[in-house]
Amino acid sequence: MKTPSRILLVITAITLLGSMALFVRSEQSPEPLTGNWVVRTDNKDGTFRTTYLNLKQEGQKITGTIRVTQFFYRISESTGGPDGFTLTGSMMDGKNERKVQYEGKLVGDGLHISTRRRPQDNPTQMVAVRAPAGEGAMPARNPLPALHKVADNGLARTPPMGWNSWNKFASRVDDATVRTIADAMVSSGMRDAGYVYINIDDTWEAGRDAQGNIQTNKKFPDMKALADYVHSKGLKLGIYSSPGPNTCAGYEGSYGHEEQDARTYAAWGIDYLKYDWCGARNLYTDEEMQAVYQIMGDALLKQKRPIVYSLCQYGRQDVWKWGAEVGGNLWRTTGDIRDAWDSMTRIGFNQNDLAPYAKPGHWNDPDMLEIGNGAMSNDEYKTHMSLWAILAAPLLAGNDLRSMTPEILAILINKEVIAVDQDKLGKQGQRVWQAGEQEIWTRQLSGGAIAVALFNRANVEAKVTLRPGDLKLNSFRKARDLWSHQAVTWPSDGEYSVVIPSHGVMMLKLSK
Ligand code: GLA
Repeated sequence: MKTPSRILLVITAITLLGSMALFVRSEQSPEPLTGNWVVRTDNKDGTFRTTYLNLKQEGQKITGTIRVTQFFYRISESTGGPDGFTLTGSMMDGKNERKVQYEGKLVGDGLHISTRRRPQDNPTQMVAVRAPAGEGAMPARNPLPALHKVADNGLARTPPMGWNSWNKFASRVDDATVRTIADAMVSSGMRDAGYVYINIDDTWEAGRDAQGNIQTNKKFPDMKALADYVHSKGLKLGIYSSPGPNTCAGYEGSYGHEEQDARTYAAWGIDYLKYDWCGARNLYTDEEMQAVYQIMGDALLKQKRPIVYSLCQYGRQDVWKWGAEVGGNLWRTTGDIRDAWDSMTRIGFNQNDLAPYAKPGHWNDPDMLEIGNGAMSNDEYKTHMSLWAILAAPLLAGNDLRSMTPEILAILINKEVIAVDQDKLGKQGQRVWQAGEQEIWTRQLSGGAIAVALFNRANVEAKVTLRPGDLKLNSFRKARDLWSHQAVTWPSDGEYSVVIPSHGVMMLKLSK
């Protein structure tokens, strides 16, 4: 006999089964592009460069996110479907919008995609496979600390000098390279000229262990042993990270592990950290940079080991106004330098207004040296070296020290130019005269002396004439040419004239 409660039971069972069937159906056959997709490209160092496409397809519309190295895009436009689609991703990078485009189609279980950086480039082809839901997701945003002043660590009383791996080696840096560069730093005489930091840039990192400790990848089997080796040569070791989850090259950043990483660096024997914004831009706005950089400033200061703190955020948010507040010893003032006259001069000659912000312990950093990397002439490299010295800029060589020519070495270890850079007054120089493509910059030195650099940015040689009286340089009695290492007759009245080769420089030190 059917009682009302049995009927109810049957109805409930049918409803349940029905909704389960519905659930199973939607699990088994969603729109085919929906899901989390990953491409892993082998970095050949035990790590992978990953691209995650987390897609939701609704008919002809695809939404979701694309995460690749340090970039995290939201899909803003899409066309097509599984048989052929185009996705446009968009993200904000400070005030600029960055876009990326992928084309693709589903072939069996693989999502065949291609992308290009610029319309004229050949597309990079990849096949993405399904990844577990949530893998590669952006972490949640950690709260930021209130701003306070991080105490001065007492380091870098003169601009740091050393070497950095990025400009020449990029991702091809490894333990053996660093050791042999350290050897060359000593045997070439560069260490004795003042170059002491050997700085490993991006791509040394692997993931983290179960306790969250940052690991080195296969290129750096033992960072502590490497630090011991570098220290045994009378040199110091620098390292690189990002406040974001990823570095610029897509490696593991320090996000959420700042103090733990600072402890690891100290335990390894690290003496210098370059901290590069890149991956942090997906979680924080540019306006929040100061608080973000303060976290690592505090963490480094807590360590017993003195660690120079180098801020790398491309000169955004007028970093020169707050870099010292977060414990920064130096801060990049521009985007990346290239080994090219236009890049070097665009950066170098644009630093004039930043002079008031440089002081012992806290320096403007117009980026690392390209001297010896091959694409500029020796006159251009002399201009590079002279200008950086006038700017009280950090001198971080970026070439292969193991194979440089004697001329390049001579430019890098010109003791008289280095003495200008390292002058203990710590005053950054400025432009005092300009006529077209000729410029004169001066830098006040300790002991009442002054450095004068006459630059010729033109494509032809030029005669530059300077009237000491006009530039208030008439009280000086002695002059020395810092490139030929000879005394120069200095007229207190009248004129001083010199012919400067194209893209060349005349650098003088005047004293009483
Ligand atoms: C950024 C920095 C460079 C270098 C690379 C490494 O571009 O500005 O100096 O550190 O990242 O990925």
